[in-house]
Amino acid sequence: MLDTRISRRAALIGSGVIAAWLASPARALLQAVGKAPTPALVTELIRRMTLEEKAGQLQLMASAWGGGAALALNPPQGNADFPRQVQEARQGQLTGVFNGNGATMARILQTAAVRESRLKIPLIFAADIIHGHRTIFPVPLAEVASFEPELARRTAEAAAFEAAGAGIDWTFSPMVDVARDQRWGRGVEGGGEDVLLGRLFAAARVQGFQGSDLKSAERMLACIKHFAAYGAAESGLDYNTVDMSEARLREVYLQPYKAGFDAGALSAMASFNEINGVPSTGNRWLMSDLLRGEWGFQGFVVSDYTGDEEMIAHGFAKDGRDAARLAFLAGVDMSMQSGLYRQHLPDLVRSAAVPEAQLDESVRRVLNLKAMLGLFDDPFRRIDVKRESARTMLPSTRALAREAGRKAIVLLKNDTDLLPLPRSGKKIALIGPFAAGPHDLVGPWVVYGDDQKAIDLATGIRGALSDKAGLIVAQGSDVEAPLPGGIEQAVAAARQADIVILAIGESANMSGEAQSRTEIVVPKPQQELAEAVAAVGKPVVVVLKHGRALALQGAIANAQAILATWFLGTETGNAIADVLFGAYSPSGRLPASFPRASGQEPYYYAHKPTGRPNPPGDLQPYKAHFRGIPNSALYPFGHGLTYGKIDYSGFTQSALTLPMAGMIEVAATVTNRGTRAAEEVVQLYTHDRTGSVTRPVRELKAFRKIGLAPGQSEVVRFTLRAADFSFYGRDGKLTVEPGTFDVWIAPSAESDGVGGAFDLTA
Ligand code: NOJ
Repeated sequence: MLDTRISRRAALIGSGVIAAWLASPARALLQAVGKAPTPALVTELIRRMTLEEKAGQLQLMASAWGGGAALALNPPQGNADFPRQVQEARQGQLTGVFNGNGATMARILQTAAVRESRLKIPLIFAADIIHGHRTIFPVPLAEVASFEPELARRTAEAAAFEAAGAGIDWTFSPMVDVARDQRWGRGVEGGGEDVLLGRLFAAARVQGFQGSDLKSAERMLACIKHFAAYGAAESGLDYNTVDMSEARLREVYLQPYKAGFDAGALSAMASFNEINGVPSTGNRWLMSDLLRGEWGFQGFVVSDYTGDEEMIAHGFAKDGRDAARLAFLAGVDMSMQSGLYRQHLPDLVRSAAVPEAQLDESVRRVLNLKAMLGLFDDPFRRIDVKRESARTMLPSTRALAREAGRKAIVLLKNDTDLLPLPRSGKKIALIGPFAAGPHDLVGPWVVYGDDQKAIDLATGIRGALSDKAGLIVAQGSDVEAPLPGGIEQAVAAARQADIVILAIGESANMSGEAQSRTEIVVPKPQQELAEAVAAVGKPVVVVLKHGRALALQGAIANAQAILATWFLGTETGNAIADVLFGAYSPSGRLPASFPRASGQEPYYYAHKPTGRPNPPGDLQPYKAHFRGIPNSALYPFGHGLTYGKIDYSGFTQSALTLPMAGMIEVAATVTNRGTRAAEEVVQLYTHDRTGSVTRPVRELKAFRKIGLAPGQSEVVRFTLRAADFSFYGRDGKLTVEPGTFDVWIAPSAESDGVGGAFDLTA
């Protein structure tokens, strides 16, 4: 059992708002409703349903409307013919559809279900609302860079408001897979490499999507995915094998899922990967023993897209019938897209391969959720064509997207205080494939967002400049191919300018599902562009676009200033301009370490020590490092500069010992010695020097984001208790061992900051 005491306390430290939610009557209410007795209507319906109708309630299909956004986003499967799908709704062969197109489609299908089907059971409408519906917020990984879970709660709430207005009851979000290998493309959808951040953002997003009343026409059901450990795919190859100890699974990978369920999420999606030889979709230990048994989950589990059928290719199921049986018996209540449940479950029950009572139980879970969403009271409660447009891209939602965008930007480097730039008096050359144009703005995993409605970088910069004519724009290169004459044109632009902004990096389709990379670098033609432009000798600001941490090389790494800007969504250009010209002092911190080279992956700060660590300083033979580079990050987790000058001093600790039942307070003075206001994310890390099981070199235990005016100091205090140091022992049980612990209060996972040590005593 995960120690929820730790997660609540850490949340308290990390974000008061999330802690308040976790302790709130609203959350308790939501959880209680999840456990509430089955409504009489549901029991009565189950009594009247045929086996085929029961199986129909467990079959979710991609919307076939207009070709179907889902069918474009995923490999085409099955039937893409909308009239036939309406007929399936009439015949009770569908529980709902996903990634369709808005209220008009939902009205047609819902009408068929509730007016023309035998039992009139409403459909549920789902979609991948990953980082916004029509107004697109920063990609989830970028948002985590804010170190502000409350921001994620607010953007999830705003996304729910727009999406529920368009007929959507259920989002396949949040994705909370811990991702420690940057080659994997799907890290962009999640919470980064750290456990504490993963937990806090999982809970915040659930709270934002669901609120405290699932019946609200402004909220929707959240889905914790991809259960479990999808982010640990071997070599970062999407869909690949996961094989790991149960201790690591519980201590790292399972934690954010648990936090999402604890926050009240009432649906879960099975992951595509296998874990220790058993695909998640057919994994009874995972779906039943752990999720329902140990964690007490009351909602329902859906497979991922054809995940049940894929167990045949995994070499786990013999055929479609066997796959349906294995997935269902493992505890996956609903099948997505393969059609296997409606095809095989009735006969599996007739032949006694699946108990009918278990089928009834899964149907009950699904119908209960439909009832909780208010669909039996009013199946059209979220379906209203007028309301859909009235809620779309409101100025307040766009303002939130701009705020989130600014907070997601990480200033990696700012030599000679090149940033912020002046608004007039300097000629700027904006160069690179991401300088201008309506592309790669909303980023990966967007079903309904539109680049055409987003602000590009050139537009944002022009808006900030007093002298609009001071901007020269040159594309220079395509993303993955050179542009004939591009470099010459870019070099000419750089020559005419005082400052160069290089807008380079990855396109939207280079991260996300099935977009694993072997080299996590800026593509070669853009590297060549950067080298040629840097050779002109003007100061260079690199504005990176990326869905993962990158290994920066050559002229890109050596630029005077570097901003990590990810994919920021609808307000991209404005948010970046706010930071470039100093309307906002950057406050983002890396949620994933930038390695020195691709070959270091998986690279993450909370790694285990080796028996041969390289001591600080020069590389030594027969010590743990790759040839030629230290075993550290170029920019570690937690790193990010501001326009202030932040200084850590005056470490204090309330005692030299921490008794098992007591607490210890540690504190540091954080000062802004610069001339501009700044926000600092003060991070608390610890290390357990010796244990019966080895412990990571550092672990983030808490953080605080504070504002500091020029010259201002603040004493930042943290309280630690023994439970903060629990881990899974060799007997598989959660344990706390006495011993000596190092503690740092620092600006990143690999900086010293200030610190001390204490003994945890029995
Ligand atoms: C496959 C993806 O893995 C999952 O995240 C998504 O929700 C489904 N497709 C539905 O689009």
